[in-house]
Amino acid sequence: MMTVTEALKQRTSIRAFKRDPVPETLVRDILDVARWAPSGGNVQPWKVIAVAGAARDAVCAVAKTALAANPAGDDAGRPIYPDNLWEPHRSWRYKVGEDMYALLGIGRENKAARFAHLARNFDFFDAPVGLFFVIDERMGHGQWAHLGMFMQSIALAAIERGVSSCMQEAWARARPALKAHFALAETELVYCAMALGYADEAAPVNKLRSERAAVDEFARFDGF
Ligand SMILES: Cc1cc2nc3c(=O)[nH]c(=O)nc-3n(C[C@H](O)[C@H](O)[C@H](O)COP(=O)(O)O)c2cc1C
Repeated sequence: MMTVTEALKQRTSIRAFKRDPVPETLVRDILDVARWAPSGGNVQPWKVIAVAGAARDAVCAVAKTALAANPAGDDAGRPIYPDNLWEPHRSWRYKVGEDMYALLGIGRENKAARFAHLARNFDFFDAPVGLFFVIDERMGHGQWAHLGMFMQSIALAAIERGVSSCMQEAWARARPALKAHFALAETELVYCAMALGYADEAAPVNKLRSERAAVDEFARFDGF
């Protein structure tokens, strides 16, 4: 049985999946564990839409059509990153991107290949299952944070079961199209998606091991 520490370290973002299906029973089992994630006031500010098979293919087509019509995308007024991301976050973001493209053998000047890799988000990197996380627009910043705890809980429960994941904010660029496609309520929006499936261990991109700041770079210890 995997420890929590092992799960935390083994969960990495997988960007090439085998096409082997993840059965509904297993997806349900993962969600059944993850629902024990905490949320302030226990408001549980999340909804999940899980897609596989024809439903998966349909939503992939919806996003691709929306982005073909409007390549800049439409995030419904909630940008993925703040404008002019500052240090040290800016460098960290840059580093993981360059490390990923280096593994893929795609140079900085090869904009077409970089764009094509980004577009792979909208195939869930070939994962057979996609999850969409829906939140009510009336929720505040606290509830958005709690949704994140839920998502990480899913990723950890998944890796414990041998199922890999990639969280995917890329889908935020198709928010209005997704809202219409899933017939969400007026106040609801898709925050992001998550690909779920079995990692293609041979794919170079899956060798990416992102770095982290050391504890002393982000934590202070007072009164110990
Ligand atoms: C909420 C969220 C959204 C993300 N969206 C994407 C995405 O759209 N596409 C992608 O390739 N990676 C995405 N990532 C993966 C991050 O780049 C990755 O978590 C980070 O570089 C750390 O690497 P690791 O997950 O392998 O530890 C996302 C991660 C999170 C937490």
